[in-house]
Amino acid sequence: MKIIVTGGAGFIGSNFIRYWLNKYPDDRLTNLDALTYAGNLENLREVEKNKNYKFIKGDICDENLVNDAVKGMDAIVHFAAESHVDRSIMDCRDFIRANVMGTRNLLDAAKNNGFVRFHHISTDEVFGSLGPRDKAFNERTPYDPRSPYSASKAASDHLVRAYWHTHKLPITISNCSNNYGPYQFPEKVIPLFITNLMAGKKVPVYGQGENIRDWIYVDDHNAGVDAIIKKGQIGETYCLGGNSELTNLELTKKILNLMGKGEEMIEYVADRPGHDLRYAMDFSKAANELGWRPAVSFEQGLKKTIEWYKNNNGWRQNIKSGEYLEYYKKNYLER
Ligand code: NAD
Ligand code: TYD
Repeated sequence: MKIIVTGGAGFIGSNFIRYWLNKYPDDRLTNLDALTYAGNLENLREVEKNKNYKFIKGDICDENLVNDAVKGMDAIVHFAAESHVDRSIMDCRDFIRANVMGTRNLLDAAKNNGFVRFHHISTDEVFGSLGPRDKAFNERTPYDPRSPYSASKAASDHLVRAYWHTHKLPITISNCSNNYGPYQFPEKVIPLFITNLMAGKKVPVYGQGENIRDWIYVDDHNAGVDAIIKKGQIGETYCLGGNSELTNLELTKKILNLMGKGEEMIEYVADRPGHDLRYAMDFSKAANELGWRPAVSFEQGLKKTIEWYKNNNGWRQNIKSGEYLEYYKKNYLER
């Protein structure tokens, strides 16, 4: 199989490329990535010499480049996006450009090059926010995005579905809960807290830490994408979740505990504007139809993740995320 992966130099995409080449060594993977602040070729050192792996530096909004790259492909697995809610609160122009316009460009390239199979990677955040006792999101939950990030992802999901209904482009969509694991950019809460503690810094908990996320280990997400590509029904959406709901405070205490630090390292900061209270996923459709379920417990996954960051401090040192975080904190959390 010849697959083009977009956003393969980011967190989930780079883990996907390693996962896929390991499981299907005869498949040929092309990684198309613009190398934004979140894209890092260091994430792909293990595969860069693999003869079945190829990298193209390029923007998914570039019509000619994308059209050429998609020619002859059997499938597109579309991870590329601006992915961080806090950045979308500061300025969402790049989110609309990459997530909406970029997805449109890829869909047309898929349609114009023989209706290439298109798998779209999306998020649970398109469904909005749950109350503490509400049932988890499922494939029939109405869309209700509330951050500029989730609104841009919702727009892209609608476009992908529209290309199925209108043009019969063979698509599938996965909406997944919060991922964690190796190579995650340390602006997202788990790697930020781990790397702060490694550097002797405090961890900034928004509000009172009562917001709930459903955590999934990145390999479990990618195994779900694999199952959908191999067995999913064309035109369908699948919800993927980790079965691991935690409040941010519970999560923070687990990280502190595993890293041998005390609660004096918590710094409560002002809340994120429009902060969604709770996300949770009902993945029974993927379980019943595809035989997929998450395999890594949160305890196992968090231990592996902390070990990885400790053993790869050089990777962290080469990433410049500090300036943006200081700016965000000062302008959006402390005003
Ligand atoms: P990431 O920010 O780590 O990586 C995004 C990658 O996309 C980067 O390599 C970046 O260079 C690339 N990219 C951005 N704009 C581009 C453009 N215009 N052209 C080409 N490449 C571009 O993101 P991630 O956490 O790996 O997320 C990947 C996908 O999974 C996204 O679509 C995101 O919405 C979705 N998702 C993420 C999570 C999560 O918890 N991280 C959960 C569910 C769904
Ligand atoms: P994040 O990793 O940004 O993912 P998302 O907003 O897409 O769910 O945040 C996860 C949760 O952690 C969210 O409720 C916001 C919270 N959070 C903090 O409390 N402090 C932080 O510094 C960050 C980045 C997030």
